[in-house]
Amino acid sequence: MVIFHKASELQKNLSSSATSIGLVPTMGGLHIGHISLIQKAIKDNMRVIVSIYVNPTQFNQSEDLENYPMNIEKDLKILMPFKNNLILYIPNHQEIYPTGISSKKYDFGSLSVHMEGKVRPGHFDGVATIVEALFKKIKPDKAYFGEKDFQQLQIVRALNKMLNLGIEIIGCTTIRTSDGLALSSRNSLLSSKQIDNAKVVYEALKYINTKVSDWSIKEMKYYFKSKVEAHEDFKLEYFYVVNQCDLVPVSFLDPKKEYRVFIAVFAGKTRLIDNIKLFRI
Ligand code: PAF
Repeated sequence: MVIFHKASELQKNLSSSATSIGLVPTMGGLHIGHISLIQKAIKDNMRVIVSIYVNPTQFNQSEDLENYPMNIEKDLKILMPFKNNLILYIPNHQEIYPTGISSKKYDFGSLSVHMEGKVRPGHFDGVATIVEALFKKIKPDKAYFGEKDFQQLQIVRALNKMLNLGIEIIGCTTIRTSDGLALSSRNSLLSSKQIDNAKVVYEALKYINTKVSDWSIKEMKYYFKSKVEAHEDFKLEYFYVVNQCDLVPVSFLDPKKEYRVFIAVFAGKTRLIDNIKLFRI
């Protein structure tokens, strides 16, 4: 596997004839969701770069950063089958934050105000700081992000526009277990009982989608909360139905607009987030 720790070295290696460069930014803890992004990137591009960097500025709680599942050996093993098709970029803090580990400040308007933006202050400034650094260092033509972090995806799109980088941002469908649990690096922190119980999240979201014409948003939230909290160590953090364009929560649905449901649930100490598109009313 070709691994670079410095973007300057990586740039020298990228042949000028590479017509299309795809970037898959990750924080390691790789799983099938990442693999699906990598496979799509390999299909679409001549060269694919996978970055692994656990970005401290996007963790607003030090405990979350300390518990983040990091295992570079395991990640390298998972990437082995793709070793001829990708380049790994594993920068250190000095490479990304030469003047000190802190995030820049951005204004994404309503996109960063609610959901993760509200409960994790500073999170999206941290995400945007690292994504801006990666985009500027790697200069990809296309970059791949999962829809599981839909708010992040919309913010990356806004960042790309704001900085006029002209990168094609590709949003990829959430990959789920056969039970419907959205894949996430943090799932490895769940007990087997919590994993089993966590299927309630997607089951309840899918059920709500069948009730769009009958239920108010309040009723949807009530249903979701009671289903999820029926499991003893599960606790709802938020449930919002939001306008897909501006990510502002709504109380009523307008048939002319597109909506998504966003949820965050604590399973013990581990946070699960998910979102689905609300079908036509
Ligand atoms: O989604 C993630 O894994 C991270 O937020 C990202 C985009 C790699 C930035 O650190």
